[in-house]
Amino acid sequence: MASGEEWQIVRRGKGIARTGKRVQTEKPEASEPSERLRGKRRITEAVNELKGDNFWLEWRELLSGCLAASGRGSSENKAVSKRACLLDCVCYGLGNFSSCVSARYQLAMLLLLFDTLEIPVGQCSMYDPVFTVSECETLRELGFTVLTENEEGKRAICRPTLFYLIHCGKALYNNVLWKNWSLQVLPNVIVIGNSFLGIQERMLQRELERDYSFLSDAIGVCEETSLPCSPRFLDVFNDTALIRFPTDKISELPDSIWAEPVEPHYQHCPDLEIILKERQLN
Ligand SMILES: C[S@@+](CC[C@H](N)C(=O)[O-])C[C@H]1O[C@@H](n2cnc3c(N)ncnc32)[C@H](O)[C@@H]1O
Repeated sequence: MASGEEWQIVRRGKGIARTGKRVQTEKPEASEPSERLRGKRRITEAVNELKGDNFWLEWRELLSGCLAASGRGSSENKAVSKRACLLDCVCYGLGNFSSCVSARYQLAMLLLLFDTLEIPVGQCSMYDPVFTVSECETLRELGFTVLTENEEGKRAICRPTLFYLIHCGKALYNNVLWKNWSLQVLPNVIVIGNSFLGIQERMLQRELERDYSFLSDAIGVCEETSLPCSPRFLDVFNDTALIRFPTDKISELPDSIWAEPVEPHYQHCPDLEIILKERQLN
């Protein structure tokens, strides 16, 4: 993030982002190796805490099972991990994991998943415009690929990709879907994020259709598996689901829905939950 860059602050609401007004960003703080070491120790502690909680075992079971069911592995563990290695991963909207406990546990969960499914950490790209310099360095030291540009979630995939977007704004989900909006590509999109059904419940249908049309169209044909959460981690993983788009289900949508998907811009959204990239003024 360039120093002095302007973007919108996103605050946590009830498990979902809300956008504040435009403000100047603070200068990123200097990155001390000792501080990063402490940070990494805290991440390791979080990983160990999650490992000791039963709900992690349920996540592991469900995610391994779902990967197998979607043809990316078999019931035999070795085969699952071999196939899972083919997965790319993109994590948007993790938040400030050095200062925010929820974000730290979400990062710890991602590391646990990679370890279990034998996905190389380097296959995961990370981006959040609020990351500090120190957090970017910590992520690189952990092996992640840290993106330097705000893609606004508009990432075109070319192979099965897990999008890890916990408690992110609707525009991010909608943008991911738009960029990969075809019968051939969408089945390769796997989301771990806010329940789409929950989003639908909390919104007026006409506003969902008007502002987030890809999300709205996908909700009826996606396959959502709710991920459990222990009371202790309610704030961290509430309303989280694994969401997939099986070919047989998305084929139910009318052909016209796939033709020339128009890029979303959200000019008229009153409560936009995404930090947009800076655009050049002519
Ligand atoms: C409600 S917060 C969730 C943070 C964290 N995952 C949690 O549950 O506490 C939404 C996050 O989305 C991030 N975000 C906003 N626009 C983004 C963008 N264009 N790309 C990636 N992340 C973005 C915000 O900076 C913020 O950290």
